Amino acid sequence: MRILVTGGAGFIGSHLCDRLLADGHHVVCLDNFFTGRRENIEHLLHDQRFELIRHDVVEPLFIDVDQIYNLACPASPPHYQYNPVKTVKSNVMGTINMLVLAKRVRARILQASTSEVYGDPTVHPQTESYWGNVNPIGPRSCYDEGKRVAETLMMDYHRQDRVDIRIARIFNTYGTRMLEGDGRVVSNFVVQALRGQELTIYGSGEQSRSFCYVDDLVEGLVRLMATEGRYEPVNLGNPVEFTIKELAERVSRLVGGDVRTVYRPLPQDDPTQRQPDITRARQWLGWEPGIQLEEGLTRTIAWFRERVGRRGGPGIGITASSPATS
Ligand SMILES: NC(=O)c1ccc[n+]([C@@H]2O[C@H](COP(=O)([O-])OP(=O)(O)OC[C@H]3O[C@@H](n4cnc5c(N)ncnc54)[C@H](O)[C@@H]3O)[C@@H](O)[C@H]2O)c1
Repeated sequence: MRILVTGGAGFIGSHLCDRLLADGHHVVCLDNFFTGRRENIEHLLHDQRFELIRHDVVEPLFIDVDQIYNLACPASPPHYQYNPVKTVKSNVMGTINMLVLAKRVRARILQASTSEVYGDPTVHPQTESYWGNVNPIGPRSCYDEGKRVAETLMMDYHRQDRVDIRIARIFNTYGTRMLEGDGRVVSNFVVQALRGQELTIYGSGEQSRSFCYVDDLVEGLVRLMATEGRYEPVNLGNPVEFTIKELAERVSRLVGGDVRTVYRPLPQDDPTQRQPDITRARQWLGWEPGIQLEEGLTRTIAWFRERVGRRGGPGIGITASSPATS
């Protein structure tokens, strides 16, 4: 198949491109390189079945493809809050553009949604039937509400125009190729620990998150795309829950240093609990994560160890202690 991956030069997108090529497909990777990096896909550029397009999903696109994975959107708070209007545009206009393309060429389209559609959840763990608790006017709203509208658009194009849609509600995912210093908690902790710095904990550290290794997530995305007749959202994440404090301890131990932490105030609207109920993914896709935190962190630390040593500074001008725990 000829498969379009928007946001294909990003963290998850580049792993997805690897996987789709390994499965024998032709991959068209589209990215505006806001948070994506050429080095994530450099190893694919020589492949005859790989095509790279520098394009912004906010602008229409017409190419012939069989499937579309729509991942184009900055995912970490410092990035999506950098230009919140653009974040909304990427989610709304970008999703419309990809749905128009899917409709025109009769491609199946999968939308990368997020656990953030649940906001600060009052139901725990979160099932897909929970409608969420989202602040519509806060600093995270451009992302949370943007993704909610993207889901609405997917369902409406499905009901109105019979577009063949899939919606993945992705929970915290981590792994190699995360941007150094982009404010996500795993990369923050790993980079700080490797530099021998104190690990910054926002709030009490008792807030919980579940962490899914990127290879597991990609497997879930591919299975969801392949499943027939399932149009409703599916949670994809690792249901094993850890507090931020526990994560800090594990990272410190694996890096090989003492646990040294510093506490900062919790950013506005930061959810206190986050854990996916993956019953639907188990039933519909026969999917569940197989890579435990210890193993995933070990791989991630090995990758960052090389980079932190090589570059000696955080990426793209956002410090490793930016206030975000998503
Ligand atoms: N990583 C996670 O934990 C997580 C959790 C929930 C949802 N998601 C979703 O998964 C997708 C990928 O996330 P990621 O973690 O790989 O983030 P990322 O920032 O590494 O990747 C996003 C990619 O999209 C590109 N992009 C952004 N805006 C664009 C635009 N307007 N036009 C074209 N390209 C654009 C970026 O340059 C980047 O390559 C996102 O849609 C994100 O919302 C990720």
